[in-house]
Order: sequence, then C-alpha cells, then structure tokens
Amino acid sequence: MSQEPFSRGQWKSRVGFILAASGSAIGLGNIVFFAANAYKFGGGAFYLPYLFALFVFGIPVMILEFGLGNFTGRAFPESLHRIAGRKGEFVGWWANLNAGFITMYYITILSWVIGMLFGAFGALWKDSIPVPAFGIAEGDLANPYAYFFHMLSTWKPILYVALVWIFNIIIVRKGAETIESATKVFVPLMWIFMILLIIRGVTLENGMQGIYLLFTPNFEVMKDPSVWQGAFAQTFFSLSLGFGIMTAYASYLPRKSDLTTNSIITSLLDSGFAYIAGLAVFSILFAFAIVPQASTIGMMFFILPQGIGEMPDQSVTVFGVVFFALLLLAGLTSSVSLVEALVSSMRDKFGWSRKRTIAIAAVIGFCGSAIFALPQVVNPGLEDDGTLGLTLLDLFDHWAFSYGLLIIGFCECILVGWFLGADKVRLHLNENSSIKLGAWFDVLIKFVIPLALLVVLGYSVWGEIKDGLFGTSFAENFSEEYGFLRYAPRFALAYWLIICSIAAFLLARRGSFAKAE
Ligand code: TRP
Repeated sequence: MSQEPFSRGQWKSRVGFILAASGSAIGLGNIVFFAANAYKFGGGAFYLPYLFALFVFGIPVMILEFGLGNFTGRAFPESLHRIAGRKGEFVGWWANLNAGFITMYYITILSWVIGMLFGAFGALWKDSIPVPAFGIAEGDLANPYAYFFHMLSTWKPILYVALVWIFNIIIVRKGAETIESATKVFVPLMWIFMILLIIRGVTLENGMQGIYLLFTPNFEVMKDPSVWQGAFAQTFFSLSLGFGIMTAYASYLPRKSDLTTNSIITSLLDSGFAYIAGLAVFSILFAFAIVPQASTIGMMFFILPQGIGEMPDQSVTVFGVVFFALLLLAGLTSSVSLVEALVSSMRDKFGWSRKRTIAIAAVIGFCGSAIFALPQVVNPGLEDDGTLGLTLLDLFDHWAFSYGLLIIGFCECILVGWFLGADKVRLHLNENSSIKLGAWFDVLIKFVIPLALLVVLGYSVWGEIKDGLFGTSFAENFSEEYGFLRYAPRFALAYWLIICSIAAFLLARRGSFAKAE
C-alpha cells in the first residue's frame, strides 16, 4: 500500500458535472425501456407510477447519494464506513459488486450494439439471412431480427466486448478530467440524435397516431402491483441509484456546491429523455403497424430497427446509423460511470495508482462481459430462447436489477437516516443549495422510502415463492432437458447473494483506508 496521499481529482465546472451525471443516468434504459413498459402497461397510464416514483423516491435518493459523496468526499464504501463503520462499508462494497455484475452484462449489450452499428451501414437492411442455430429459415423474419441472432451465434461479440472495454478505459483513464471531456461531446450529441429520430418519426405518415396511443391512459392497469414494482426498479436503474455512482461522482465536487439543485436537474434530464424517446419509438412503430414488445432487448435490436428498415429508402441507412450510434453513446456514458465508481472505491481503500486499479477492473470486467457474450445456443427448439450468454444475462439481470438496487436503496436510507441522522446530510446540503430541504426530507429518508421499498421487495419475493422461486419464464426454460444447465438459475442466485456477500465482508473487514489529498 502506498503511503503517499493520492489525488482524487475534481470536476472542472458545474456544467461538466451535470453532463457527466446525466450521461450516467441517461442510458440504454431511457431509450427503449420506458416505451416498452408504457406499451406493456397500457400506454399513458405508466407515466403516473413512473412520475410518482421519480418524485417520491428517485429525486430524494439522488439528493441523498450526492449529499453523501460530497459530505464525506469519498466513494460509496468509505463514505458509508464513516457513517456506520464496518457494516456501512459492507453495504458499500456489496453495492459495488452488485453493480459490477450489471456493468458486465451492460457492456455485453453494448457489444451487440456495436455489431448492429456495423450492420446498419448496409448488411442489416438486406434480405433476411437464415440462422440455422436458432431454427430461423431464409426469409422467415425481417432482417434485423435474423442479423441479430446470427451475430449472437458467432464469437464476434467477444471481440466487440474487448472494444467496448477499451473505450471505457480511454474515457476513465484520468478520472473526472477525461470523463468530463468525453461527456461534454457525447451527451449533447445524444440529445441531437434523439431529436433527429423524433422529427423523422412524427413526419412519417401515421407517425402521430402512435403518439396518441402513448398518451391515451388505461387506468385499469394501475391496480396491478407489478406496474409499481416495475416503476420503482426502473427509477433506480435509470437514475443510476443504488450503484454507488452518484456518490463517487459527487465526491469530485468542491464542498461548496449546490447539490440539491444539481440532483433535481439531473433527474429531470433523465426522465425527460425517457419521455421524449417514447415519442420516437411509438411514432416509428406505428407508422408501419409494428407491434411493440415488452422486452427491452427485442425493442432495441429488432423491433425498432425493423421499423427503421421500412422507412423511405434514403432514410434507412442514415437513421439506422443514428439510432445505433445513439445507443452506443448513451451506453458508454453510463458504463464509464460505474467503472469510475469502482476505481474510486478501490483507490480510496488501497491507494493504488489509477493505472493499476483500472487494469485490474478491466481484466475482471472483460472476462465477465465475455461470459455473457458466449454464443452457445441453449436449445434451438424452444421459442424465446437464446444463447448461453443471453440466458445467464437474463438470470443475473433478474437478481441484480430487480432486487439488488432496491435492497441497496433500503440500506442506504437506513444507514443515513438512523445511524448518521438524515438531518446532518440535509444541513450540509442546505448550506450551499438555493433550494432548501425541510424536515420532510428526514421523514422520507427515515420512514417513507425504506418502508415503500420493503413493500415492493416483499411483493417481489412473494411472487418468486408463488412461481417457484425463479420466476415463471426461468423455471420453464430450465427443465430437465438442459442437463447440468438446469442448475443455472440456482447458480446465479447463489453466486449473486453468497459471493457478493463474502467478497464484501472480506473487503470491509480490513478497517484502514488510504490517505487522499
Ligand atoms: N442509468 C443507466 C440506464 O438507464 C444504467 C446505468 C448507469 C448503468 N450506470 C450504469 C448500467 C453502469 C450499467 C453500468 O441505462
């Protein structure tokens, strides 16, 4: 361990910080997830649970994570250690590890985006190719569909995974400094690309019809508790909460920063992006009478591209490239935020050089992402089935996304609310913020949010038990005929729960931290 105090770095400007934080928040989740869910949950009605979750949970927890990082000047594990000792630090590492899994498969998804981006220059729009591994015959399906599955059944995505990791390394190489330079270009470009897609969508014949559908509420579905569960989990994921990201990013801000306003701006930019993305998605799909899908992967890789493929000739390549480039930019500005959060946590603890820390994170991360890109086809006979990598991705996503982030949100509210006292963070925030938080904030952090998260988590667990602990689709997909693979769901669950906990325990057991400037 080095004895020299190491430099943590700082954002150069407030705008730079907001661009980086909103770049983290706006990701793949914003572009199609909102639209996919709005469709699944009856159009306009999904706005209400989503807005509710944003104001009552999203924004306050974002304020909390920003406040925590700035109050302590450290990344998640050390900042929680300062509040609640080893148990706090345990939660911090656990959050990093859980988020580490999400990053691994998120980067795999980005590798497929790269493959599709290459295709968008030509091959993606040609006649449909057969994909024997998935039982797809020539001309069976629109080409983006066949192209995507064809790519999945090859080893190429592993190469693209390496490429995405290299991009990540380049962007985080000097921490806040290089992230700020990259997001200053990427984030505005993302907004421009999105606006271009909206203009193209609404000017297509019948494009506006789709938008009417999006805004026609069906209030019946709001009685379904899974709508609320979906809205909560999505709010955390979309705002990058429960990852330890916002804490790490805010630790690079000067202590006199207006964090409350920054949190609100970042959150509104994030949900605003998701709402306007809905306009593009629904108008493009409706213009060509394509039925949306509830699955994010499906929407991203073949449903929406199928719509783009039906546009007038001169639009196809241009908007196809714009769409996949948009996904890549949005995804990269999100993935780098977690790589940086991990690097920041490890450096706080061990005081390693930036180079060494990044190298360790990238090697482990690359291996993990490569596993999710494994091309072996599990069972071509089954519908909705994918490769081994895709299947593992589904399983890990199920635990890390639907449970992990919410569990961490619960723990951080308890730690700050009950161990430190929410008023301490609030007073720190109020010192420099133009928007002053009242005592209601303490009530939200101590009681309302943890209680609501418990209800949502309890509801999910009850669903697992009812469906045989692994969710219906998993249980069906992993029947006897899979040989040893039928243990995969249990393996994923144990791996996620036991390995994350043991690793977090070991990391938190050593009490000391490196000195920073
Ligand atoms: N907020 C991102 C989204 O909506 C998700 C995200 C942020 C993320 N940071 C991440 C995912 C780091 C993986 C790794 O898509």
